[in-house]
Amino acid sequence: EKGGYPHFMLKEIFEQPEAIRKTVSPRVREGRVVLDDLRLTKEYIQGVSRIFIVACGSSYHVGMVSKYNWERLLRRPVEVCLASEFRYCDPLVDDHSLVIFISQSGETLDTMAALREAKRRGGRTLAVVNVVGSSIAREADDVLYTWAGPEIAVATTKAYSTQLVLMDLIALYLGDLLGTIEKTEYDTILHELEALPEKLERVLASIEDVKYFASRYFNHDSIFFIGRNLDYAMGLEGSLKLKEISYIHSEAYASGELKHGTISLIEPGTLVVALGTYEPLFDKAMSNVVEVKARGAEVLALATEPLKEKMAHTADSVIAVPETHPVVQPSLGVVPLQLFAYYVALQRGCDIDKPRNLAKSVTVE
Ligand code: M6R
Repeated sequence: EKGGYPHFMLKEIFEQPEAIRKTVSPRVREGRVVLDDLRLTKEYIQGVSRIFIVACGSSYHVGMVSKYNWERLLRRPVEVCLASEFRYCDPLVDDHSLVIFISQSGETLDTMAALREAKRRGGRTLAVVNVVGSSIAREADDVLYTWAGPEIAVATTKAYSTQLVLMDLIALYLGDLLGTIEKTEYDTILHELEALPEKLERVLASIEDVKYFASRYFNHDSIFFIGRNLDYAMGLEGSLKLKEISYIHSEAYASGELKHGTISLIEPGTLVVALGTYEPLFDKAMSNVVEVKARGAEVLALATEPLKEKMAHTADSVIAVPETHPVVQPSLGVVPLQLFAYYVALQRGCDIDKPRNLAKSVTVE
């Protein structure tokens, strides 16, 4: 049932191009995003004053990416909340709030409770869910499915990736209704979402590089991920994947925060994974690499292909991913991070598909 792969996680990583294709293509017709299942009218969305995205774990990290993308494309405030916090924080939800819940399983208890709380306060709820007919899917006002197919490994990969692209599609759709997206930007993002499976195949083909770095670094006790903007959001996911399955202590920081405390943890030999795929802030990413190098860090960087050489001037090693529109870039960048976590955990002899103390769906508080 693992289709020849040693673990479900690896199988699911390799299923990502197809899962993304299944999630995107039925929703594109004649160069437009069509979301037949979404019953949000132009009048409704024009009256929305706040957008909340509520989720747990990796699904929350999709929300972090989406905050940057949605604010860019919709020019509306977007707040991302951990479901476990949202449900008890007396949230400022009212009937002008659109509250989006992201969940692979559709059964996460905290997300479910947060959904009920949002409804109680008059918010309009939209669920982005993978499991058809799950509790969250049934209770939300609207539901859009990620067509990732069954995900078995506890560490999510293809569900995360399909959530990302579906959130991008929704942003295009709503931005179009609101008139906040330039036509050329709309066309480019949509084109890049359709081109994503093919570019992802290229990322997956460079697996040997990642394997090599995993064999070089699997013995580290602590690994830091740094990045800005979308790279920061992506770093949160890279760090969670790593700690979840390899049990290595890891943290993700917004690079600008280094000087406010974290940099004191950097000593000679500390591994820093520096994310530099967000092109508008690439120079800032480079200067943060210089900063940590000056404290003796070993730096493994991630950059887009056109900027790989430049990054190689400062980082010890660089993994490159194909370039795409910045909004879509995390969908490519996250894959080497998933593979890195996988191969580090493999080297360490961990139980990859069933990491200790964790369950696939968290139905208790
Ligand atoms: O099913 P959900 O998306 O609601 O699950 C949320 C988290 O429990 C989940 O993403 C968890 O963080 C993953 N194991 C991370 O790989």
